[in-house]
Amino acid sequence: GTIPKYEVPMPRIPVLKPSRLTSGTSFFDVDMRESDVQILPGRKTRVLTYGGAFPGRTLLATTGRRTVVSRLNTLGTATSVHLHGAHVAPEHDGGPMDLIAPGDRRSYTYPNTQTHANLWFHDHAHHHESEHVYRGLSAFYLLSDRTERSLPLPSGEFDVPIMLRDARFDTDNQLVYVMDDFLNRNTILVNGRPWPYFQVAARKYRFRILNSTNLRFFTLKLSDGGSFTQIGSDGGLLAEPFETTELRLSCGERADIVVDFARYPVGTSLELVNDNGPGPAEHVGKVLRFDVVRTAADDSSVPARLRTLPALPTPTVERTIDLRMDEDGRPHPNAYIDEKLYDHHRVDTVIQHGTTELWTVRNVNELAPHNFHMHLVQFRVLERNGTPVTGGPEGGLKDTVTLLAGESVKLQATFKGYRGSYVYHCHMLDHSAMGMMATMQIV
Ligand code: C2O
Ligand code: CU
Repeated sequence: GTIPKYEVPMPRIPVLKPSRLTSGTSFFDVDMRESDVQILPGRKTRVLTYGGAFPGRTLLATTGRRTVVSRLNTLGTATSVHLHGAHVAPEHDGGPMDLIAPGDRRSYTYPNTQTHANLWFHDHAHHHESEHVYRGLSAFYLLSDRTERSLPLPSGEFDVPIMLRDARFDTDNQLVYVMDDFLNRNTILVNGRPWPYFQVAARKYRFRILNSTNLRFFTLKLSDGGSFTQIGSDGGLLAEPFETTELRLSCGERADIVVDFARYPVGTSLELVNDNGPGPAEHVGKVLRFDVVRTAADDSSVPARLRTLPALPTPTVERTIDLRMDEDGRPHPNAYIDEKLYDHHRVDTVIQHGTTELWTVRNVNELAPHNFHMHLVQFRVLERNGTPVTGGPEGGLKDTVTLLAGESVKLQATFKGYRGSYVYHCHMLDHSAMGMMATMQIV
């Protein structure tokens, strides 16, 4: 409770520089290492990093141009680097059992054959992913394409990635990690700093927001109740902009929003708040403060049509997937998919390459929220609790979807491009570490 709010500026996450470029490929070099970084006033915090930065530097990629990232693991623990939301070969996916041992180096190739999307790197070493991500192993990977670049959206300094997370610090400013310790993570970090302020001009901004927490769901609002425009979700732009006063983001989800500060006089301060418990609202209810400090020209706009989503092929296979965790108060609860704990020796779902499938995913818990993430594919949400989803924040391409207790969603995905094993799991990373993960094999 003694960490001051709105006293440090929100940093802009620096962009990662390639180590080498060829005609079709950009090469990057990023080691995993421990670093001491300034998060709170006073003593520095020991964190795990991609390349010494907290959060990691942003990798900018372009559709049609390959990215190769060489990763040296200088940590004392095995890691696996997953590119969340990416359409990649299984050996480059960074799955939970595909580890880089301490001292080893490995290269991941990303073909970038998919359309634009805000992806992100995070650790995926099974049983350690939750702690590793919590301690700092996350970074943006922003994939752009012609469709996105051709739009007159706010760009340059007015296009700002925002990585949200929570944390618990000890009195020595060090991160405290306890499994499933959701309620005690009472400090909100934005781009690596606690409750920062961000000075803006009275014009439109595009914010690319990622919920990189392990357990916390956000419901973001402007403190004056003002509206903003959601233009994108996990897999890139929505078909049409969606005017709203709130943005819900579960763990791992991303959204692009445009906020027009032109309606506020210079000198206005307003907060981005989180209207989603539990936890003390004076802490976890606050996120960051926007200070409108100047006027500026603005020739950006949000077109009424943003993109054409891919056509939905006819599904030929239907499945039901149940998510459940022990909620009887036992000290070490397990978490299951279809009543089974994750076992990497087992294939849970066999899928024929090229097939389009419908998955009804249900959270059968009475209290516990979950969400659901699939590797390899961007899926579509066809129904939520039996009601058709037509447009809105879930109408675009998704790779992670919220499932509150008792909820169900019907998803459609087409499995093509690669064969092999990939996982699907709850992206509350403590839950996947507790077993809520399974393997699909595309044959
Ligand atoms: Cu973002 Cu399997 O993960
Ligand atoms: Cu879960």
